[in-house]
Amino acid sequence: MRQRESLQIAIDGPAGAGKSTVAKIVAQRLNLFYVDTGAMYRAIAYKALKNGASIEDELSVSQIAQSTEVVLDHSDEGIVWCDGENVTEAIRCPEISRAVSTVAAYPGVRERLVELQRLEGSRGGVVMDGRDIGTHVLPEADIKIFLTATPEERAKRRWAELSHAGKDISLEEVTRDMQRRDRMDTEREVSPLKPARDGIVLDTTGLSVEEIVAKIVALA
Ligand code: DC
Repeated sequence: MRQRESLQIAIDGPAGAGKSTVAKIVAQRLNLFYVDTGAMYRAIAYKALKNGASIEDELSVSQIAQSTEVVLDHSDEGIVWCDGENVTEAIRCPEISRAVSTVAAYPGVRERLVELQRLEGSRGGVVMDGRDIGTHVLPEADIKIFLTATPEERAKRRWAELSHAGKDISLEEVTRDMQRRDRMDTEREVSPLKPARDGIVLDTTGLSVEEIVAKIVALA
């Protein structure tokens, strides 16, 4: 295992499994950078919609990905910059959540973002969360976690998060969107969502955030 300051922790799993909440706290406790790779895919979906591109137009969306600068700031606020615009809030809306799985299935988009993610990984110790971090982005990561929870619990968590942020959306709608996204993320051809062969699967159903964090910190 690498020294603490250059440790790489990969956290993958489906939407609503608790990845970002857990990854952020683990990064703080171990003094590592937190890299939210889902936010990068969301930023590309945001830019494509803003430019009036059709999300189904693979070539246009891939070209947008090649020419867009996505920067994650590593302060506690975790600001996401897309060509100099602060898109932190804008990328969390249901419209982007619906479009992002299509965007994330395009090889041209993934190539560009994986390159940026590896660059982030080479800058020092990181906790990186996503869908293909342990299997593809950082295959040499010291610790690979696959977080999961029952679909019901994941949908409830995501709905609570959105409601808390003032978004008017029903649990049924969140459940439907999530099922569709899970299917697209696990069935796509390039880097589908799956646990790494040498990863540790953690079912978070019924566990508190603190319990999950403690398990991962103990591994580190
Ligand atoms: O974690 P999230 O819900 O913000 O991710 C948004 C989308 O991006 C999700 O549909 C899966 C995709 N994604 C991916 O394909 N690979 C990653 N490393 C991270 C996210």
